[in-house]
Amino acid sequence: MLKEAVDFLNCRSGGIILDGTIGGGGHACEILKRTDPDGILVGIDLDDDALHESRRKLKPFSERVFLMQGNFADMKTILSSLNIKAVDGILLDLGVSSHQLETTTRGFSFSSDAPLDMRMDQRSGFSAYDLVNTAPEGELEKIIRDYGEEFRARKIVSALSKQRKLAPIRTTRELAEIVMRAMPHPVKRRRIHPATKTFQALRIAVNDELSNLHTSLNDGIDLLRKSGRFSVISFHSLEDRIVKNVFRSWEKGCICPPDFPICACNRKKKLTVITKKPIMPGEAEINSNPRARSARLRTAERV
Ligand SMILES: C[S@@+](CC[C@H](N)C(=O)[O-])C[C@H]1O[C@@H](n2cnc3c(N)ncnc32)[C@H](O)[C@@H]1O
Repeated sequence: MLKEAVDFLNCRSGGIILDGTIGGGGHACEILKRTDPDGILVGIDLDDDALHESRRKLKPFSERVFLMQGNFADMKTILSSLNIKAVDGILLDLGVSSHQLETTTRGFSFSSDAPLDMRMDQRSGFSAYDLVNTAPEGELEKIIRDYGEEFRARKIVSALSKQRKLAPIRTTRELAEIVMRAMPHPVKRRRIHPATKTFQALRIAVNDELSNLHTSLNDGIDLLRKSGRFSVISFHSLEDRIVKNVFRSWEKGCICPPDFPICACNRKKKLTVITKKPIMPGEAEINSNPRARSARLRTAERV
């Protein structure tokens, strides 16, 4: 949803746009074209590989681009280090990039065998290997149930636990096979691999994805100038729910119980939600990129 997401940002020349998930620079390139000749783009990514790729792609615009390795949850500090106090637009295109998924050594996918890693930021000292092999059973079960929306979490964790007592679980294939063995027969025959939800859950936990999203939405809203736009593309229902709820709560402002005679929370409306329903990809996009099937775009405007 490159075009739709960038359209909603209302880019104009001279504008300052923050792309919090610059990845390979696809959205950023379009933003830079639309903010020609003097708009500024600040690009953030946790992943050094992504920054290399986007630096290469955005070379023609290099004097208008600032690329920073970091977490979008730290966008306030990152912008302040560049002496930027407010922006005209923010884009978050959440989740892993195709490049990360397809780089076998990164361990995001079980389609090839790789060390259990899943760190977006390779400087981080905590990987999926640490989580799977050292987390207490109860914590692992909660992660797989809540972040993977997997109701067979108990069964999966008991299989993982049995295995890790014998030897550490080292690779993506090993993990996928343990999950597969823990599943009842009808689930084993499904088109979608039974370990898909477990992998999603572990990745979310390793990268603290939901808490980062929450922080960045609340901080980002305060960084927007009046009429500035915040666009978020999410890839699963947990993320989309957070975006919807945070946007709605700042559209509403006051959160006092309805029977309060006057407002006691002093929370003021900060946003108007532009997309009353999430925008979904069209058939052509899904055909050319099946991963886009679950994408949802929401945009809000600062009042
Ligand atoms: C779906 S890709 C973005 C693709 C990009 N829009 C493009 O056009 O190429 C998501 C990117 O966000 C990065 N990312 C995920 N969580 C992040 C976070 N909390 N802070 C910064 N970058 C993050 C990932 O490393 C990945 O490169």
